[in-house]
Amino acid sequence: MFRFETAGESHGECLVATMAGLPAGVPVSLDAINRELWRRQQGYGRGGRMKIETDQAHIVSGVRHSKTIGSPIAILLENKDWKNWTEALPVEDSEGAEDKKKPVTRPRPGHADLAGALKYNFDDARYILERASARETAGRVALGAVAKAFLAEFGIGVLSHVVSVGDAHLGRQADWEELVALSQRDEVLLNCVDAEAEQRMKAVVDQAYRTGDTAGGVFEVVAHGAPPGLGSHTTWDARLDGKLAQAIVSMQAVKGVEIGCAAEGSASFGSQVQDTIRYSREDRRFTRGANRAGGLEGGMTNGQDVIVRGMLKPISTLRRPLESVDLATREPALAAYERSDVAVVPAAGVIGEAMVALVLAGAMLEKFGGDSLAETKRNFEGYLEQVKNY
Ligand SMILES: Cc1cc2nc3c(=O)[nH]c(=O)nc-3n(C[C@H](O)[C@H](O)[C@H](O)COP(=O)(O)O)c2cc1C
Repeated sequence: MFRFETAGESHGECLVATMAGLPAGVPVSLDAINRELWRRQQGYGRGGRMKIETDQAHIVSGVRHSKTIGSPIAILLENKDWKNWTEALPVEDSEGAEDKKKPVTRPRPGHADLAGALKYNFDDARYILERASARETAGRVALGAVAKAFLAEFGIGVLSHVVSVGDAHLGRQADWEELVALSQRDEVLLNCVDAEAEQRMKAVVDQAYRTGDTAGGVFEVVAHGAPPGLGSHTTWDARLDGKLAQAIVSMQAVKGVEIGCAAEGSASFGSQVQDTIRYSREDRRFTRGANRAGGLEGGMTNGQDVIVRGMLKPISTLRRPLESVDLATREPALAAYERSDVAVVPAAGVIGEAMVALVLAGAMLEKFGGDSLAETKRNFEGYLEQVKNY
């Protein structure tokens, strides 16, 4: 069974990301993984950490001679900041270690601090935020890059763009070629396909910088080239729309998910929402009048682009902190501030790509199986033939 996990704290020694169940023979390039890690660190509105941290994947198992070998893959990502935290977060306790801690006793509204400290019975929230932090998503992105390499073998690509930051919206659909061009840029502002909309988005982030505030927004992930029939309508937990929704909402600060034009559709009549069905005799295939369903019907891919949006709340660490309570004294206090991002929508898009790629890789393997890439491809091609001859 295909599965993946991450471990590691924000200021710990390193992140560890593991993945099992990928067939042997999938080409893996460190440069491609590092490029995805770089993309996750970009975007206007990021905090100081991105300047000290250039992530490089260190693969320790599961890949030999640039190909997967069928065994679990483990990737290490060093935390460059660890050297400043060895005394505050030692693995082994020692005399005097207590004095070197960097406690967080003024929980930030919107962060995991208070709920986590209560749940795990800690008198400060340090250990909670260390793991709740989105630093963890570097591990997801590294694994997502491997999942993307697997999907690419089947002609499937997964990319993202920013649809809004605060109240600044793109206001139109983007096509696949625009997303490809965006992903190849070596400078990322807000990862928007429209330069004018991007400047409006930048103005929102500038306002947040000026006022000690933060901003949220919406990113859109598109999976291009997926065959019809991934996922299933047969049981609640086999539905691919449900799996994608969980994957996207599992991301830090994502509070909503939309598949296709869900929000607009809920306010429209059915005649304007469903994607009409046509048949091309020449190409011997079904086509659709539009793609408002986001490529998913009945929890299955329908052969159109899969379109999933994630809605990010504004970052909860504010330079002008909100009202909180000191956990030690129970007196009113302003929430803690630690170096922080102001807006992260482009980075969230890249993480969203990784999550969608991982879910799709799982769905592909569920349907086509295989211990070697050649076997998976054979099964895949047989199925495509069946669909063609339907
Ligand atoms: C790419 C990315 C970067 C983030 N950076 C920060 C940050 O610098 N400061 C912060 O307070 N929250 C940041 N967050 C959000 C928090 O990790 C998140 O709000 C927190 O863990 C609580 O979880 P929740 O918002 O999902 O409920 C970031 C989220 C993402 C996706």
